[in-house]
Amino acid sequence: MVKANNRAIVFLKPPTEFPLPGKHLGIESQEVDDKLKENEVLTRNLALSLDPYLRGRMSGQKADYLTWFKPGQTIDSYVVGEGFTAYGSLLELGQPKAGETIFISAASGAVGQLVGQIARRFGLRVIGSAGSDDKVQYLLNELKFDAAFNYKKVNKSILETLRELAGPKGFDIYYDNVGGETLEAAIEVINKHGRIIACGHISDYNSTQPYAVKNLYKIIVKSLKVLGFMVYDFSTEVRVRFEKEVTQWLLNGEIIYKEHVTVGLENTPEAFLGLLQGKNFGKAVVKIADL
Ligand SMILES: NC(=O)c1ccc[n+]([C@@H]2O[C@H](COP(=O)([O-])OP(=O)(O)OC[C@H]3O[C@@H](n4cnc5c(N)ncnc54)[C@H](OP(=O)(O)O)[C@@H]3O)[C@@H](O)[C@H]2O)c1
Repeated sequence: MVKANNRAIVFLKPPTEFPLPGKHLGIESQEVDDKLKENEVLTRNLALSLDPYLRGRMSGQKADYLTWFKPGQTIDSYVVGEGFTAYGSLLELGQPKAGETIFISAASGAVGQLVGQIARRFGLRVIGSAGSDDKVQYLLNELKFDAAFNYKKVNKSILETLRELAGPKGFDIYYDNVGGETLEAAIEVINKHGRIIACGHISDYNSTQPYAVKNLYKIIVKSLKVLGFMVYDFSTEVRVRFEKEVTQWLLNGEIIYKEHVTVGLENTPEAFLGLLQGKNFGKAVVKIADL
């Protein structure tokens, strides 16, 4: 029997806070039988995608929407498709209109960078927040956001900074990737009848005590719409439109896309930790091998 060597990232045990390399995630060599039966194919992975949702599968308990990892299990993953997430949720749920303003958190990330650029194409004023000065410069200079701030370095508070940047026109859509204090500030500043697209809550993913948003009653008094979604909610028709339009925009150079590439499968646990700590600058991928 022919044996091939397969390296795998394995789940060691559930973390209570950040998943640490060697403690919660390890790497293992496994022998696999590569003698193919009829109609079987052997695949070789060249790259993998790192996605925040994987943290939910490491919680040691059943996630609402996915299977969770058990100790000793090889980490597997779905192709999440941040581009489709951004396109589907912004256009189908957000219903953006020219002249409106959108605020996006984690705006330089995989989802955020595309939401901002699509919103600009549709004639919206775009405000973004991100976790470093470099990321803020990228939003302003490369992605042409109208305003952006580093939420880790605000003068008074996220709330005051957001209020100042939104100005008298306020904003109409909040694209929420982070939850927590930023969501609370957004609820405070967003215009009456505003829409909140609830995409992610990353500020709580590694915390044993989720942030308690204190102004949820303003959803009522401001007649807000809170639009939660999962990427697989969108129809095939939307996916076909996404593939056609976004591919064309990319090919024409009308939108750009930044990736954060880590080289080497063995560096995956560190790269995943980095993603959860904001060390990625763009879509996080791991390059495993050359073509
Ligand atoms: N609903 C869906 O179907 C769906 C699909 C895909 C993704 N998502 C969600 O969308 C969000 C973005 O995902 P992504 O793939 O685009 O990841 P990403 O933005 O490329 O990477 C995650 C970013 O989150 C930010 N972050 C980390 N900790 C934070 C904290 N405590 N407070 C504020 N920001 C923090 C960091 O950027 P900074 O440096 O800016 O802090 C980090 O770079 C995640 O919440 C994810 O779970 C949802």
